[in-house]
Amino acid sequence: MPPPNERTILIVPDRPEYGALELETPGTKAYTPRLLRLYDWFVLGFSNKYAWKCPTHEHLLPLWVKNFTENHLDLGVGTGYFPDNGYFQDPCPFNEPRELTLVDLNMYCLQMARSRVKINHPNVEVHIVQTTATRYLPAPRASARYSSISIFYLLHCLPGPIERKVHVFDVARHHLCPTKGVAMGATILPKYWEKNADGEYVPVKGKWLNPIAAVLMRFYNWNGTFNNWEDTPVFYERALKSYFEVVETRIVGLVFIFEARKPRHRPLPL
Ligand SMILES: C[S@@+](CC[C@H](N)C(=O)[O-])C[C@H]1O[C@@H](n2cnc3c(N)ncnc32)[C@H](O)[C@@H]1O
Repeated sequence: MPPPNERTILIVPDRPEYGALELETPGTKAYTPRLLRLYDWFVLGFSNKYAWKCPTHEHLLPLWVKNFTENHLDLGVGTGYFPDNGYFQDPCPFNEPRELTLVDLNMYCLQMARSRVKINHPNVEVHIVQTTATRYLPAPRASARYSSISIFYLLHCLPGPIERKVHVFDVARHHLCPTKGVAMGATILPKYWEKNADGEYVPVKGKWLNPIAAVLMRFYNWNGTFNNWEDTPVFYERALKSYFEVVETRIVGLVFIFEARKPRHRPLPL
């Protein structure tokens, strides 16, 4: 049982216009306790380094550490690797109290991430919300605003079309503190892209996936863990700009990385 000041919130379907709530998409039910035990080693260690060519310690963890705050919302939590490691920063830049809200459809992930953080950082107040990251948070956190929000490796798991996936950016826009908040994230693309001289993303001609990436990409898209064949950095960047005034993006290997600030009061049309 969580301490009395911490909350566990179960699903409340508050945005029916976003479609029926999918509790068990392949992109979330794959994360069984057995698989979660291998996740950090295989996904964050091996795959990021050798398949997607975006080593966690060189790119993703530094992005997290740069933007993580004492009032954080994590959308799609996995094993809780990033918040756990974020709190280990030395010297610790956070004020007390530290609050962490974890959102995921999969209760195993929520429980694992919460216990990991609580064991290593008992002073952090951890709230868990079992709902989809494509909807605004349900009451009583519906009006909550966070000073940092993370969307790490969630978008490539979500069912398409991409226009639906980017509802997650709208959720981040809605829940981000308008003045000092930052939303950050990363997602795996199905092929290589680069920026041209005009700063626009274009596919890299003649560069094929390395053999490990090709096998994993096909396998995950076949079994439904990934849904990213149609994903492009062009659309993701455009969507981010429609929801936020300040957007920075880059690509490392096959991973699209973003930081977004100043959520728009009214999103621009996509
Ligand atoms: C690849 S893991 C990423 C975990 C973590 N952010 C990381 O980077 O290590 C994807 C996570 O998103 C969750 N997930 C998938 N679809 C979701 C949805 N619609 N809403 C919330 N979480 C979802 C999965 O259950 C899983 O915990």
